[in-house]
Amino acid sequence: MKDLQTLRREVEILSQKAGAFMKSECQKMDKNRIEKKGRNDLVSYVDKETEKMLVKELSALFPEAGFITEEGTTEQRKSTYTWVIDPLDGTTNFLHQLPLYCTSIGLLKGDQPILGVIYAPETDELFSAHQGGGATRNGKPIHVSEAETIEDSLIATGFPYQRFDKMDAYLQILDHLMHNTHGLRRLGSAAIDLAYVACGRFEAFYEYNLKPWDVAAGIIIVQEAGGKVIDFDGQDNFLFGKQLIAGGGIVGDLQQLIASYWYK
Ligand code: IPD
Ligand code: CA
Ligand code: CA
Ligand code: CA
Repeated sequence: MKDLQTLRREVEILSQKAGAFMKSECQKMDKNRIEKKGRNDLVSYVDKETEKMLVKELSALFPEAGFITEEGTTEQRKSTYTWVIDPLDGTTNFLHQLPLYCTSIGLLKGDQPILGVIYAPETDELFSAHQGGGATRNGKPIHVSEAETIEDSLIATGFPYQRFDKMDAYLQILDHLMHNTHGLRRLGSAAIDLAYVACGRFEAFYEYNLKPWDVAAGIIIVQEAGGKVIDFDGQDNFLFGKQLIAGGGIVGDLQQLIASYWYK
């Protein structure tokens, strides 16, 4: 395969092409072309067309790699190398013309993300990383926050679309964090949440029930920005395991706190 640095630059350019298309469609969204995957789970032609374009172009860039994609453009196929794509992360924001949405492209080797690119067109911010190559925002190196206490932290999260059996524990965690931090934020794009952790805007991010395409790119960007990603057990089942905590200096304390409610 070609070297990761070269591939990263090519994927960055591709993500900007995807972002330009999404941004141009955002203002003129045809509401008749919005579908519901679930009661509060929306998808539009922009998600689907962006994904088709990305699959086509990434296949040309790296023919040996398989795909895992949200909108099912191509058969979900994993090989040694796998592209993990969320063409439009933050669809609900996009459909309401909230300017927090992005395209997220990760590359796995086995189950480990080795390259990640997130582009948010409305803010024109390009976040990327590759294994051993550091993380950048618009070409400049970024680093996670060094804050050491949860109390000194701004924390991001997301709300799962469906009810689940740990709802009580989940609400207790929210209650604790709401009252013992600088604040809690729910931006509506897990990929942007992770990018913002990587550049230190958020001290940490946690969410339950995420999918691999929400997080693959963000994981390597946080790791290369000096951060840590773990699951609610403090282990490493966060890519496919639906539980993810990412952050800088407070990540261990946040995991202990979440686990103390989750496993009570
Ligand atoms: C969603 C966003 C949201 C998160 C949801 C995801 P989508 O992705 O990342 O922040 O809370 O769990 O499904 O559907 O906008 O690509
Ligand atoms: Ca979706
Ligand atoms: Ca998503
Ligand atoms: Ca999506």
